This record gives sequence, C-alpha cells and structure tokens, in this order.
Amino acid sequence: MPRTAILGLGQYLPERVVTNDDLAKMFDTSDEWIRQRTGISERRYVEDGTGPADLAVPATKQALENAGLELEDIEFIIFATLNPDYFFPGSGCILQDKLGVPGIGALDVRAPCSGFIYGLSAADAFIKTGMYKRILLVGAEVHSSGLEFADRGRDLTVLFGDGAGAVILGATEKDEGILSTHLHADGRYAKDLWMEIPAACYSPRLTKEHMDEGRHYPKMNGRKVFKMAVEKLPKVINEALDANGLAIDDIDLLVPHQANLRINEFVAQKLGLPPEKVYNNIHRYGNTTAGSIPIALNEAIQEGRAKKGDTIMLAALGSGFTWASCLLKL
Ligand SMILES: CC(C)(COP(=O)(O)OP(=O)(O)OC[C@H]1O[C@@H](n2cnc3c(N)ncnc32)[C@H](O)[C@@H]1OP(=O)(O)O)[C@@H](O)C(=O)NCCC(=O)NCCS
Repeated sequence: MPRTAILGLGQYLPERVVTNDDLAKMFDTSDEWIRQRTGISERRYVEDGTGPADLAVPATKQALENAGLELEDIEFIIFATLNPDYFFPGSGCILQDKLGVPGIGALDVRAPCSGFIYGLSAADAFIKTGMYKRILLVGAEVHSSGLEFADRGRDLTVLFGDGAGAVILGATEKDEGILSTHLHADGRYAKDLWMEIPAACYSPRLTKEHMDEGRHYPKMNGRKVFKMAVEKLPKVINEALDANGLAIDDIDLLVPHQANLRINEFVAQKLGLPPEKVYNNIHRYGNTTAGSIPIALNEAIQEGRAKKGDTIMLAALGSGFTWASCLLKL
C-alpha cells in the first residue's frame, strides 16, 4: 500500500496587521493581558469582501510551486474551515471555481481546529486505497468578519486571526509521509465553543432578536477549552506514539495547533518535550484554526526547524470538541 507524503506546502496571510494595541482602542483589553494569557502579539485581518477561499488561492499556488506541480495535477480538493465562505455550497467548490479546475471533487471538513488533521486523515485514506494520487488540502479561515469587537466578546475576539495554509498530498512508495492519524470528538461539549446563529434548526434562521442578543457571534467557555486541551492533547499524542511503537524522544518536532501559547507550553511540559522541539508562531498570527497547523509546519520548514526525514507530530483540539493527532515523516 502506498503512503501519503506532503509534496509541497504554501500559506497566505492577509497583509493587514492588527496589534493588541489596535484591539485595545476598540474595547477594554490590553497588550499585557493578551500577551500574558495567550502569547499573541498581533494577528492578520482581511479587507472586506475577502473569504477563506480567496486566501486559499495564493496558498494553493505556493504549495503547487513548492511541489513542482501544476493545477491540472490536483485530482481532489479537501477544504477545512469553520468559516465557510457561504452557508452552502462548501468552500471547496468556491475554491475550485477560483482555481479554474472544474469537475474534480471538492469536500469540506467542518472539524474546526482539528480540521486540518481530519482532512489529512481523509486524504490519507483516499490515497492509500488508490482512489486519488494527488489531493489539495487547505485549511483557511476568515474570522475577522464574524468577531464581536466589544467588551462582551473580548475573551474570544483577541484570540483569532485570518489566514490559510495548503498542502499537496501524493502517493509515495518511499519511507516518508503519514504514519498514522487519530481522530476524536465529544459532542457533549459542542456549546462550549460554538456559533449558534444562523441555524437550520430555527425558522427563520436569523432574526433581529438573535442579533440583538449577539447569538450570531462565536461564544467560548475559555477555561473548559483550556482544561480539555491540556488533558486531551498529551493523550492523543501518546496514542500516535504507541500506534507506531515510538517514544516521545523519537519526535523531532511537535507542531501543535496554535490556540494559546500557554496550552502548548503545558502540553510540552506534560510530555517532557523541550521547548526547542515545539514550534509556535501564535505571537504573529493568533489562532487561524484550520489554517494554523499547515502555516506552522510550512514556517517550521522554511526556518529550518523541520527538515526532510524528520519525524513530526501534529496535534490539535478545538470546537466540537474535536481533537486529533498525526505522526508523519517529512
Ligand atoms: C481565554 C483565556 C485566555 C482566558 O483566560 P483566563 O485566565 O481563563 O481568564 P478568565 O476567563 O478567567 O478571565 C479573567 C478575567 O479577564 C477578563 N478578560 C477576559 N478576556 C479579556 C480580554 N481580552 N482582555 C482583558 N480582560 C479579559 C475576564 O472578564 C475576567 O475578568 P474578571 O476577573 O474581572 O471577571 C483562556 O481561558 C484560554 O486561553 N482558554 C482557551 C481558549 C482557546 O484556546 N480557544 C480556542 C480553542 S481552539
């Protein structure tokens, strides 16, 4: 059976930099509070009229160039996002149109912060069964158009940023690529990090009352998310190590979801991983959700922190709650 290798990576971050001080001019927060609790210094926001599929286009082109492949080489698209361009159809279809490759299949993955790893897992299965040889997997988010820039939403608003990461995945017979993926979810916690409105279970799906109550903004139980992340991430990382008969020292680099620097520090400490074996770039971009792991992995490679042949662990937890890990050899 072939393995699934990452053939190329790309990313796109919007140009507009929004610092913590910029946010402090809009609502009651401070650079000090945000840095101390989250590690974030700044994030990027799109200009109005830009959706996640728009961010995915340059990320995809860069990933293709990095892989030395052409658009025509892509046989299938997987688009991971919690912020689809529209309620329907999926952003995979919107991206496919923007790329100009009509006809190939396009699947959206809605497993928020774990979306990129869920997408990797799906792509891995498609490739291993021989259904496709080359898959484009994108994680892209535009959060800024849906955040509440007021005291009520400040706990969540300061965390998130816009951005996209993309990988081209392909079949390989070499000793490289995805070793295993491990996916979990627990829907009992769905409302601990969610956006309720618009909702198909209400008619109409969006009313003035909903908006007056702010139910169209994302809501989060920050402490619960933090607690779950520091509990589940070490477990799902160990699950991947056990499945491959490896120990923590065998990992060259952990590339975790970028939700909160403190979460990643706790996780590394629990696992006994030294800081130099954990990649973080949350200070620059905040939490770009499905985009965070491909962007972090791409930057880790560009900075020489991850290189060909390294054993890399990816891990994420977020809304759902969903959590997941992927062990791969670059
Ligand atoms: C959000 C998070 C940073 C909040 O930190 P915390 O230590 O739990 O803070 P609390 O929620 O207890 O709030 C502490 C105080 O800070 C205030 N506060 C909340 N957000 C604030 C902000 N952006 N700026 C300033 N003060 C803020 C609260 O109102 C509270 O004030 P009070 O003590 O007067 O009531 C933290 O819970 C966290 O990171 N959780 C995980 C979130 C996450 O990763 N989400 C994405 C998952 S994919």
